[in-house]
Amino acid sequence: MNILILNGPNINLLGLREPEHYGRETYAQLVAKIQAHCEKKGISVSVFQSNHEGALVDAIQEAHGKFDAIVLNPAAYTHTSIALLDALKAVGIPTVEVHISDVNAREEFRKKSYVREACVKTVSGHGTDGYLEAIDFLSEGE
Ligand code: DQA
Repeated sequence: MNILILNGPNINLLGLREPEHYGRETYAQLVAKIQAHCEKKGISVSVFQSNHEGALVDAIQEAHGKFDAIVLNPAAYTHTSIALLDALKAVGIPTVEVHISDVNAREEFRKKSYVREACVKTVSGHGTDGYLEAIDFLSEGE
């Protein structure tokens, strides 16, 4: 199995940004944790982060025919991006939406997710372990 992990804007600043919402783990530590988890499970993984909506759309388009599943934290683009929703619908790759914080327990505007309708599951508020849960779900249906 080949999984693509996609992270949107400001996720590269994990550890620094709003630790009360996102914890103290750095982005590099998150990537290492994902890689170790996938290695243990015999899953091939690629990890990509961008602060640019179009780069994320490109990554989803390019995943077609290359990846079996996507774990996507669109970050702020969750709440704004029809382009990401359309890209996910276009490629039809099973995708789990992940949020480190509990988006439903924060500001009203964070409750709306445009990408959700193209995702098979949403994991929100489980910290960075949510990425591992999403990987387990996509690889084992758990
Ligand atoms: C986030 C939640 C979003 O509302 C926010 O814009 C982010 C991160 C999360 O992982 O909890 O940047 O997706």
